[in-house]
Amino acid sequence: MNPQAGYSPEVMDHFYHPRNVGAMPEADGVGKVGNPVCGDVMQLMIKVNDDVIEDAKFQTFGCGAAIATSSMITELVKGKTIDEAVKISNRQVVDALKGLPPAKVHCSVLAEDALRSAINDYLQRAGRPPIEKPPREKKE
Ligand code: FES
Repeated sequence: MNPQAGYSPEVMDHFYHPRNVGAMPEADGVGKVGNPVCGDVMQLMIKVNDDVIEDAKFQTFGCGAAIATSSMITELVKGKTIDEAVKISNRQVVDALKGLPPAKVHCSVLAEDALRSAINDYLQRAGRPPIEKPPREKKE
């Protein structure tokens, strides 16, 4: 069996060479989410200056797609304002990775949720209200 079956070269690249992996002790916002069905856990950290996300890192204990989507979302979010970043959807992450097998789309949802959780942690630390989650578009 080909272990890469169904995965794009972009997914394999971000799985084998994840960007922005590691701890961020001085993070301004931390989001930690898990999927109770598969048991994967994702932690995403952001460094923010004047509402612009200057850096993002992740630590993911999960499947290859969870690692690839974590890696991609940290790349997508860098340089974005908080208002822009909160609009990043799991679909954008999937598109940037040139697709995911249907059974792995939930891994990208975990990445979106981790980012939103980190943003809301940042807002909460600043005494600002959290951003409500927009209704999720259909995934498949
Ligand atoms: S299998 Fe659950 S996050 Fe990938």
